[in-house]
Amino acid sequence: MARILVTGGTGYIGSHTVVCLMEQGYDVVIVDNLSNSNVEVLDGIERIVGRRPDFENIDCLDYTNMDRLFARYSDIEAVIHFAASKAVGESVEKPLLYYRNNLGSLINLLELMMAHGVKNIVFSSSCTVYGQPDANHLPVDETAPIQKALSPYGNTKQVNEEIIQDTCHSNANLHATILRYFNPIGAHPSAEIGELPNGIPNNLLPFVTQTAAGLRECLRVFGDDYNTPDGSCIRDYIYVMDLAKAHVKAVERMLSGAPTEQVEIFNLGTGRGLSVLEILRTFIKVTGVHLKYEIVGRREGDIEQVWAKPDKANTVLGWKADTPVEEVLMSAWNWEKKLRGIE
Ligand code: UD1
Repeated sequence: MARILVTGGTGYIGSHTVVCLMEQGYDVVIVDNLSNSNVEVLDGIERIVGRRPDFENIDCLDYTNMDRLFARYSDIEAVIHFAASKAVGESVEKPLLYYRNNLGSLINLLELMMAHGVKNIVFSSSCTVYGQPDANHLPVDETAPIQKALSPYGNTKQVNEEIIQDTCHSNANLHATILRYFNPIGAHPSAEIGELPNGIPNNLLPFVTQTAAGLRECLRVFGDDYNTPDGSCIRDYIYVMDLAKAHVKAVERMLSGAPTEQVEIFNLGTGRGLSVLEILRTFIKVTGVHLKYEIVGRREGDIEQVWAKPDKANTVLGWKADTPVEEVLMSAWNWEKKLRGIE
């Protein structure tokens, strides 16, 4: 079976994808510098799959060691590139760190892939590239215009997409799949792996589960005066396991030579928008935990509403995100409970 290089493979989406790849029989080598993840994730993966992925503690910016890695694993057939800095607020404070990490890693990878004859890359992009789509582009499909990024983090996703397009344009042997994720949530049903945010979570779900677990006193709902049915923001929350499976489909498609374009782009979402308040109420209903929340002012830079039109991924990749949100929220809670030793 083919070997896949997964950068950022001990991270949140990366680790779930590694599980899915290994369950399909792929050999995986993870490259991760553990800057925002924990080496024990490998134990969780091993407990789920029954095999341990190869792991190399290398920073993708370290060209020499990445070069050695490609030489050592000469059977790599595709790269899935997750490794990146991803905190929006931090990227505003430290733009150069974000540009260096996120652009430098991809540039190194593409150069090394070409030098070592690796032809396929799957890139983690984000629905953030669409900004707030116009009403006539909701739900948002892949043809919606890209809007100027609101943060250096968002800009690195846009520039990286352009770097991939330009590099593929210059090299007919290179193929890329760009996956634009909506909002990934939840954890593996075994609760062996899940999201491990550093410090105070920025994203909604980890904040919800940490509040439910008693680590945070109160969840703040950022705004209830948006132009949405209940006034809170709307997102397309996608189960991380469904998202992981889309990566396997993308790799299969590339390795079988099926792509019709050198760079294929897919939106990965459920096609259903849920508001912050709907998420909260559903979480309380399925877990039976009554967490405290209060409505506060809007968060700067927040998009009012965005959800995906995932039809292209549904038909072309033969993939659908169909896990019920109740099950997804329960998986997030089970993971948090396990982390905190709650019965
Ligand atoms: C955020 C990033 C986005 C990134 C994505 C990764 C911003 C502005 N955007 O998206 O670039 O790709 O994470 O998953 O940070 N909310 C609360 N209270 C909280 C936390 C969140 O009400 O404590 C609300 C937010 O206002 C938003 C929704 O929950 O309406 C989702 O927030 P979040 O999980 O941070 O995701 P995004 O803002 O969509």
